[in-house]
Amino acid sequence: MPSTLPGEVSSSDAIRLALRSWPEVDTYLEQCKGVIIPLGSTEQHGPTGAIGTDALTAEAVALELGRRSGVLVTPAQAFGMAEHHLGFAGTMSLQPSTLMAVLHDLVLSLATHGFERIFVVNGHGGNIATAKAAFAQAYGTATSRDLPVAPRLRCRMANWFMAGPVMQRARELYGNREGQHATPSEIALTLHLHDSLMEKQRPLPEAAPCGSIHGPADFRRRYPDGRMGSDPYLAKPDHGAEFLTTAATALRDDLETFLAAA
Ligand code: NI
Repeated sequence: MPSTLPGEVSSSDAIRLALRSWPEVDTYLEQCKGVIIPLGSTEQHGPTGAIGTDALTAEAVALELGRRSGVLVTPAQAFGMAEHHLGFAGTMSLQPSTLMAVLHDLVLSLATHGFERIFVVNGHGGNIATAKAAFAQAYGTATSRDLPVAPRLRCRMANWFMAGPVMQRARELYGNREGQHATPSEIALTLHLHDSLMEKQRPLPEAAPCGSIHGPADFRRRYPDGRMGSDPYLAKPDHGAEFLTTAATALRDDLETFLAAA
């Protein structure tokens, strides 16, 4: 059965799976078969950005989307595929095969209980290929295990930073200094979420230009301070508040369509 959005709630605590009991999840499933998984990464974000940027932003967008839609949000998967950032201290990466296994197992767990629509709010471009492979494998496993939801199981990658209105606003605010990694838009969102991060902000020299991504040693050689074409000093907390609203609004439409589809 296609699901409709349960509807806005006043606090994000109301939609956190971690704060529900199992009978409450059973009751939720009678009304809605959708669930949101925040997916991030724990990796360097230039000399002034927080290591947790991709996980913090994905979780914040997911919780705001959950609050506006009433759809349950699971705990964040804070570790992603960040092998190319391992040349920088603090980065913690899963190999593609590990991340694939993690996402596969999480989807299967949810599908076993009757969730049919898994909406992954992603904060890191490096996760996309692996997550899509995990979804393909999960469909196959659901079928081979003969799960009742198998024919209706759908997973979707929702990359908040690639939502049309988010990219448009980033272009207006930052032009080509948005760059591709440690971008002012994602840093702005972290500044909105955590006041203490403002202390790191300082002007930086011109970043290395955007280019290709290979292994960690090559990445460090091409992008010596970790940034790809970006100027995170342009980021302001009020921009971050705006990005959060813009992303949650754009993804809400996407989520509604995803749940309603046959
Ligand atoms: Ni990032």
